[in-house]
Amino acid sequence: VPRHRVVVDTVDVADFAAEVGGFPVILKTTRGGYDGRGVWLVEDVAAAAEPFLAGVPVLAEERVGFRRELAAVVARGPHGQGVAYPVVETVQRDGMCVEVVAPAPGLDEATALAAQGLALRVADELGVVGVLAVELFETERGLLVNELAMRPHNTGHWSIDGAVTSQFENHLRAVLDLPLGAPTMLAPAAVMVNVLGGDTPDLHEGLRHVMARDPALRVHLYGKAVRPGRKVGHVTALGEDVAELRARAHHAADYLRGVIER
Ligand SMILES: Nc1ncnc2c1ncn2[C@@H]1O[C@H](COP(=O)(O)OP(=O)(O)OP(=O)(O)O)[C@@H](O)[C@H]1O
Ligand SMILES: [Mg+2]
Repeated sequence: VPRHRVVVDTVDVADFAAEVGGFPVILKTTRGGYDGRGVWLVEDVAAAAEPFLAGVPVLAEERVGFRRELAAVVARGPHGQGVAYPVVETVQRDGMCVEVVAPAPGLDEATALAAQGLALRVADELGVVGVLAVELFETERGLLVNELAMRPHNTGHWSIDGAVTSQFENHLRAVLDLPLGAPTMLAPAAVMVNVLGGDTPDLHEGLRHVMARDPALRVHLYGKAVRPGRKVGHVTALGEDVAELRARAHHAADYLRGVIER
């Protein structure tokens, strides 16, 4: 994991920064954070005050200069059976996941196996029953764990359409003590792009166009109230050429959101 410690005030943050080679550092709330809310990139001691306003403990972390972010999603049954999905690359904007590519392009097999093994071991040692997602930083010094999510996770949504057994089905199989299903991919590559709330309040306005333009695309709308930046759906494209899949998925997400018109 990145170097870290619980900090109690801004002086303590300055102290921690000195310890890890200076600002910027990352501060994280220990309650109620998600989608980057509750994560601050702090450039100096003056900017370190805000995270303390909520009155809950604050964690300081070194800022990791990662090459990219990965995630290893696994499922574990109550008697220790485990399955590992292909390791994915995740792209975050403003601390929020916007895109997932499965499998992570160009990831060597040894690193992929190490990430899957690490996630299975964490699941085992914590006695997880169900799905566990391990968010990882790929760095010069190897893999670092960023976050654990003990539930079906955004970085596994591609598996609904792109795997023999989705993360949701495997989560249910695990908690029902049924044998787990194969996490094998149904295509060489899958790209999932989140549909974020934008200016268009009704996502169904764009749905027909998106469905007609790209009949092979899988579109999921969650029926949640649309608020700017909120995750309100996702689209998945399956195929071979990651650049083409990315273009198709982003086009659909942007169109649904209302930021492009054709
Ligand atoms: N120590 C760090 N160094 C560099 N970047 C970081 C660090 N910690 C977090 N980040 C960036 O901020 C993003 C969000 O952080 P994190 O995953 O801890 O928060 P979250 O809001 O709980 O996210 P999630 O929605 O995945 O639960 C990370 O994906 C990464 O891009
Ligand atoms: Mg995260």
